[in-house]
Amino acid sequence: MDPLNLNLPTKIETDRLVMRRWVADDAQPLYEFQHESWESFHKWSGGILAKKDVTQDDMKAYIDWALSGWDKRSWLEFPVFEKSAGKMIGTASFHHLDWTVPKGRIGCNVCQSEEGKGYATEIANVLTRYGFEVLQFKRLEIRCALGNPASVKIPRKLGYQFLTVFEKNKVSAAGDLWDLEIHVRFDADGLPNLNVNLEENGVVLGLNQ
Ligand SMILES: CC(C)(COP(=O)(O)OP(=O)(O)OC[C@H]1O[C@@H](n2cnc3c(N)ncnc32)[C@H](O)[C@@H]1OP(=O)(O)O)[C@@H](O)C(=O)NCCC(=O)NCCS
Repeated sequence: MDPLNLNLPTKIETDRLVMRRWVADDAQPLYEFQHESWESFHKWSGGILAKKDVTQDDMKAYIDWALSGWDKRSWLEFPVFEKSAGKMIGTASFHHLDWTVPKGRIGCNVCQSEEGKGYATEIANVLTRYGFEVLQFKRLEIRCALGNPASVKIPRKLGYQFLTVFEKNKVSAAGDLWDLEIHVRFDADGLPNLNVNLEENGVVLGLNQ
């Protein structure tokens, strides 16, 4: 498959959330999101979110990089906003993409003040539908560090199949050696119900069940 031929919906809505393609003006909300929850991201996540003393210019450069990844189909990431307050509460991504299969992994982060409201589970549910129905993936993985209490629950809540643990597989930004749980899905069947609307060139398409 040539991923450049895929028409990617750039906006996704659920009843509570909006996920969309980055725009340059997101540097400020991304900066606030990262600074609010830096310690948690440093412990459990990676990349720009896990770095200390990041500036707004760093965020601008990051968004440029993420957008070029979107255009090349090498990294697809969405900032996530809570609808009623308009606040950026998360990020969601497809990474380690292999378009020959095609397959990828999903990841998400939610800021500390919004934890425990089911947002990460909802975001991962959306990404799973998008992965199989829009990106036409044959396989999706979720990898999570053993010991991350919220993260290990999400694939189980979404009916992913637990495969194995890769022991001592990754060093975190904080320097911890992680054992990683590997969870997989081969289709979107049986996901918890969720209203999902995709917008492509101003046209709204349903992705409901
Ligand atoms: C992990 C993370 C994405 C979870 O986000 P969230 O929106 O709070 O997750 P949800 O509300 O969907 O909760 C998922 C499950 O974890 C539980 N949970 C949430 N926070 C928890 C915590 N601190 N301790 C224990 N369980 C927790 C929830 O109760 C829920 O389980 P339940 O339905 O059985 O009650 C978020 O905490 C985060 O971004 N953490 C920092 C970075 C990170 O870990 N990224 C993920 C890398 S794989």
